[in-house]
This record gives sequence, structure tokens and C-alpha cells, in this order.
Amino acid sequence: AAVVVLVSGSGTNLQALIDACADPSYGAHVVAVGADRGGIEGLARAERAGIPTFTLSVKEFETREEWDAALAGAVAAYDPDIVVLAGFMKLVGSTFLAVFGGKVVNTHPALSPSFPGMHGPAEALAYGVKVTGATLFVVDPGVDTGPIVAQRAVEVVDGDTVETLHERIKVAERGMLVDSIGAMAREGFTVEGRRVRMGRLVD
Ligand code: GRF
Repeated sequence: AAVVVLVSGSGTNLQALIDACADPSYGAHVVAVGADRGGIEGLARAERAGIPTFTLSVKEFETREEWDAALAGAVAAYDPDIVVLAGFMKLVGSTFLAVFGGKVVNTHPALSPSFPGMHGPAEALAYGVKVTGATLFVVDPGVDTGPIVAQRAVEVVDGDTVETLHERIKVAERGMLVDSIGAMAREGFTVEGRRVRMGRLVD
């Protein structure tokens, strides 16, 4: 299965996928990496792996909708079976979802529906939860609200800072992402309401 990954930062989730794809039995390969900004480690990781990259900054476009359409076009050029938003810090819009809806998954560093948005680990720590984690979901028009593919639980440790907690979450998150993308690539998946079912549709 062809996978396009969109990143905005360090790309440790991307790196985990790149490493997993080296195993020919994994069933997926990262065909391109896109970003909303240049000069990030995520793009450097792709370049080191010889994977094509593209960068589309919102401020290069007159409107957000034009950026969204351009992003859809850039991703469509690689004809992906799955689009992975891994630390991508922009909300994809209606045009993008119209083109790829149902094939776009996003990983979030909290246990949905808790703590959606940009500060999941910080909000979990501030709330005082004893368990948090990571969620992989199929992107819908909401913010971190789509049907859940997988979740991994992570203990919050006394003395945790946002950074130590987020690093612990990211260990679980990349394992969840690698296992899930591999299964989705090998078995196929379909979204039925709020359920994501693994396995190809029987003709
Ligand atoms: C991940 O935890 C992701 O869920 C969150 O930010 C982090 C990005 O990490 N949005 P990386 O860029 O994959 O290292």
C-alpha cells in the first residue's frame, strides 16, 4: 500500500513508519512526505531515506481553501492508499477530505475523546489523569473527533513534566501507528459510522 505522510515537526512517528516499511512483509511503503513548513527534521528524515518531499505553507496562498486544494493536489499526485497525519499541525479542509475522506488517519497524543487539539499532553497533566495515551483515528471534519482505529494507554508518572509525559506517549504512539498502518495496508479497512473495520470489502 502506498502511504503519504504529512508532518510539521520532528517526524519521529514518520521515522518509525519509514523503518517499518524496510521489512518487505510490512505491506506499506512511504511514497512521499509533505509538510506545511520547511526546515523541519521530519523533512530531513524523508530526504535521508530518499523519499520525495513537498512543502506547502499556508501563507503562500491567498486563502486557506486554496492551500487545502493545493495540498490535496500534491498528495493526489502520489495516489496514496492511506494518508497519515503524523504531527501535522494544520486542519485539513473540506476539499482535502472530499478527495481522500476515509483514507486519512491522524495520530493524537491523548485518549480520545479526552483532550483534543494542540495540547493533549499538557491538558492531561493539568487535569491530573493517571492514565493517558495515544489515539489513531480516521479524520472527519471535526478536531480529533473521527472514528477510532486504535488506542494505546500510557501511565502518568509522579513528577512528569509535559515533555517527559509527551515523550512517554510518543513511544506508545509510534508503536500503535506502525502496528495499525501495517494491518490497514495488508488487510484493508472500511469506515462504517463510528466503527473502523479491518479487512477488505468482500465483492
Ligand atoms: C506527536 O505526538 C503527535 O501526535 C503530536 O505531536 C507529536 C509529533 O511528533 N501532534 P513527531 O513530529 O512525529 O515527532
